Amino acid sequence: MKSDWFRHGTIYQIYPQSFCDGNGDGVGDLRGLISKLDYISSLGVDGIWLCPVYDSPNRDNGYDVRNYFEIQNRFGTMSDFEELTAKCRERGIRVVMDMVLNHSSDECEYFTDAKSSADNPRHDWYIWKKPGKDGAPPTNWGAIFGGSAWNYVPESDEYYLGTFSPHQPDFNWHNQALREKLFEITEWWLKKGVDGFRMDAINFISKNTDYPNGIADRSGYAAIHPFVRNGKMVHEWLGELKSKVLDKYGAMTVGEADGATVAHAIDYSRELDMIFSFDHVALDVKENFELRKDMTYLAELKAVLTEWQKGMRNKAWNALFWENHDQPRIVSRLGDTGKYREASAKMLATVLFFLQGTPFIYQGGELGSVNTEFRDKSELRDLDIINALNKYTADGAAGESKLMAFANYKGRDTGRTPMPWNDGAYAGFSETEPWIKVGERFAEINVSEQDGRADSVLNYYRKLIALRKNNDIIENGEYEIFDPENPDVYEYARILGGKGYRVVCSFRGREISYRSPLSEKTGEVVLCNYGRTAFPHTGILRPYEAVVFLLRL
Ligand code: GLC
Repeated sequence: MKSDWFRHGTIYQIYPQSFCDGNGDGVGDLRGLISKLDYISSLGVDGIWLCPVYDSPNRDNGYDVRNYFEIQNRFGTMSDFEELTAKCRERGIRVVMDMVLNHSSDECEYFTDAKSSADNPRHDWYIWKKPGKDGAPPTNWGAIFGGSAWNYVPESDEYYLGTFSPHQPDFNWHNQALREKLFEITEWWLKKGVDGFRMDAINFISKNTDYPNGIADRSGYAAIHPFVRNGKMVHEWLGELKSKVLDKYGAMTVGEADGATVAHAIDYSRELDMIFSFDHVALDVKENFELRKDMTYLAELKAVLTEWQKGMRNKAWNALFWENHDQPRIVSRLGDTGKYREASAKMLATVLFFLQGTPFIYQGGELGSVNTEFRDKSELRDLDIINALNKYTADGAAGESKLMAFANYKGRDTGRTPMPWNDGAYAGFSETEPWIKVGERFAEINVSEQDGRADSVLNYYRKLIALRKNNDIIENGEYEIFDPENPDVYEYARILGGKGYRVVCSFRGREISYRSPLSEKTGEVVLCNYGRTAFPHTGILRPYEAVVFLLRL
């Protein structure tokens, strides 16, 4: 029987190589993670999403799987994994694995076989095309991490498709034997006892098979997204995965679906429990590495969140998040990294936790973490940003300082610095220098400083997680927004039967005049990031203030 645990719970995302290093090699691992399970339990979360721990050459930090049935050496062994799942089960924490089914590593045996010759039975497991005129790639599509999406292989005189990078060749889901293999992999992990999957780039598995050229930008390549997302076969194939495997185990699924609209999300809900969409975290980035950092777009942000809240209601379930391993820290984007860091972190958490859907917290988010500054190119680790820096500085599209500013604001390394456990050496993450720079503010922002302090961001998150558990209004209440054009304040309600919450959040680092239409007769303050327990009679909201009223209707 399928359980809907995720509808009334919270999920905590772990990026294993940055969470805790158990064996002193500077890289996080499973033993480190096991040693922190009491901490995860103390948050009150219902499940963890574990980013890939499979054997991988790590061109893209595990999102390039070499062997789907093995644990990567530097993360530990299969018995460590089994211990992890057993200990999670003891604590009532579900384990959601990251499953990468759009592509493998180019070092995966399936691909080395496929590449060896056009006659190999696995050749058709990947997407091959003959060269175009004068040996050119079949189309002008650019890979997401830079360069052409097509990669030439002399063995068969063909190109293969690598939507993300040459090291991540795309599977050809049209091939039934390949599909059976992917289903076998998925089932194998369910038999091991995992509770569900976060499905990487799942809306990319069906491509546009007409292979048209796109309109090239100044890099010489056309954006690949429109050609490889939400293809004709995607629902049929996911339906097959669901009926042959997922349903048998009652597995929970959340699909990563970049570019998905509400309509897509509703379609995907036939096969998946929910999807991650990215509209709400894409508003501050414009063309050519230009950024909008001043929160002038609050009305747009509210409109996007409202569209998803209303559009999905009674049709599909939302996945709620501000951060993940591909995104910067939300306080650095929408809040204040200075004086009001804690107030703004709590305010942003409040906005998210009262919406309808399953909240996901990315490790360190519960501390109100901020982006660190990478001071030199040599400190960056992510292939995406390194490729962009190399390319665009070389062709003069943008200077290095502009790209470093972009990397520090929006680059994927910003969220991948080690989890700060304490103010000791390397933030208590490792005994030795970590694989990536430690966040510069770890002495101030760390677990040990916040754990016992009643008014810390960490304890505010614990309060929210507890409040949300089995809370009928938050789970099922109707969403209503007030004053949507207000440029400073996000105010919404969640109403169920005769009860409801009204959530008022200021996105400004100064006082904002605000008079609540509520009174002691119609509501009471149940949560406030300034510890306020009575009504804002003063007629102001303090910087980044969040107040939640329980309504008497
Ligand atoms: C997803 C992952 C990202 C990875 C990409 C390719 O977007 O979240 O980290 O690089 O897929 O697998």
